[in-house]
Amino acid sequence: MIATNGDLERGAVDDQVVVRGAVGDDLAGILSVGHRTWLATYEPIAGPEYVAMGLAKWWTSDVVTDAIRKGRTLVAVLGDEVVGVATFGPQDDAVVLWKLYVLPGHHGLGIGSRLMDEVVVQARESGHDRITLSYLEGNEQAARFYARHGFTETHRETPGSGLPESVWMARELGEREQS
Ligand SMILES: CC(C)(COP(=O)(O)OP(=O)(O)OC[C@H]1O[C@@H](n2cnc3c(N)ncnc32)[C@H](O)[C@@H]1OP(=O)(O)O)[C@@H](O)C(=O)NCCC(=O)NCCS
Repeated sequence: MIATNGDLERGAVDDQVVVRGAVGDDLAGILSVGHRTWLATYEPIAGPEYVAMGLAKWWTSDVVTDAIRKGRTLVAVLGDEVVGVATFGPQDDAVVLWKLYVLPGHHGLGIGSRLMDEVVVQARESGHDRITLSYLEGNEQAARFYARHGFTETHRETPGSGLPESVWMARELGEREQS
């Protein structure tokens, strides 16, 4: 029996969370994580229109199914619920971590770190020695998390229209995990 959100504790959850490659049956759970985390994360820093745009562009059934089929999606599962998602893919000499999202009620339990560790494993296995990613300026939780996982800023992109900058970071995989 899995504890309810209010009872979640780091040690107990770590034993119960399974991180694995996503399969077709995970689609609804992945979409749910995307929709719930996007609203909570981005509405305060980028506004409701940005959330609507991102969900329509990156969190449709077609886009998510394609990433599952290509073996580029990981899920963290607690009981029978998808509580975290990572999507990644090769680009030039690096693996780009396109998505890393954990349900708001499950933050700080080590789930994001477990997903990140598995992305590192997969990147190494595919022969890459560098991971890149971006977060939106103002997303301090993400900035702190990535810095603790060995990422450093490389450059910024300014989207205009009053939206926050995208802050790009990279990590060379020769380094050891810092957690
Ligand atoms: C960023 C995010 C993916 C991190 O996931 P998470 O599951 O909360 O991450 P963890 O629990 O592994 O780590 C979070 C914190 O808990 C602490 N922690 C986790 N496991 C721990 C452990 N075993 N022992 C001690 N501390 C631990 C860490 O100190 C960490 O602190 P930090 O944020 O200062 O690095 C998550 O907060 C999230 O989904 N945020 C909203 C969406 C988002 O912004 N995604 C990134 C888009 S670019």
